[in-house]
Amino acid sequence: MLFDLPAVAERARQRFQSAGLTGRAHAHGGDFLQDDLPYGADIASLVRVIHDHNDGGALRILRAVRRALPVGGVLLLAEPMAAMRGAETVGDAYFGFYLLAMGRGRPRTAQRLMELVREAGFGDIRRIATDMPLQTALLTARAVRKPD
Ligand SMILES: C[S@@+](CC[C@H](N)C(=O)[O-])C[C@H]1O[C@@H](n2cnc3c(N)ncnc32)[C@H](O)[C@@H]1O
Repeated sequence: MLFDLPAVAERARQRFQSAGLTGRAHAHGGDFLQDDLPYGADIASLVRVIHDHNDGGALRILRAVRRALPVGGVLLLAEPMAAMRGAETVGDAYFGFYLLAMGRGRPRTAQRLMELVREAGFGDIRRIATDMPLQTALLTARAVRKPD
């Protein structure tokens, strides 16, 4: 299941169709800041999504994901994170300016993301090593309780 804004979901639907994937891939259009996400996945991925949003929006998205997962379901969160050891200034300057230009969102440390993920109702939060952490760092977490 893919969830994105309606116009983006429509493009994805067309791509699924031309790739012969309509039997197993479904695109859902909506606004993850307001709408429920489709229920029934056992893993949900947020790839380069949370850093585009301020804390209020980030928490709303994470809670929506939590509501869409059963207890024990897995969240996979991948994005560039702030304060990567050895690349602090490069990462913070590049992604700081990128998000400043966008007008919202912020680069967050893995620690801060873990706090938000926990607040949204996840536990067993782990940081997974990646080959290019400056570009993509990775957290996984399990849904442990209903979101507040
Ligand atoms: C930086 S892109 C990442 C997309 C993809 N995961 C990737 O890595 O290429 C952020 C995505 O969030 C979607 N998005 C932004 N605001 C949204 C909203 N309110 N509801 C649903 N999707 C939204 C955008 O349309 C875009 O596809």
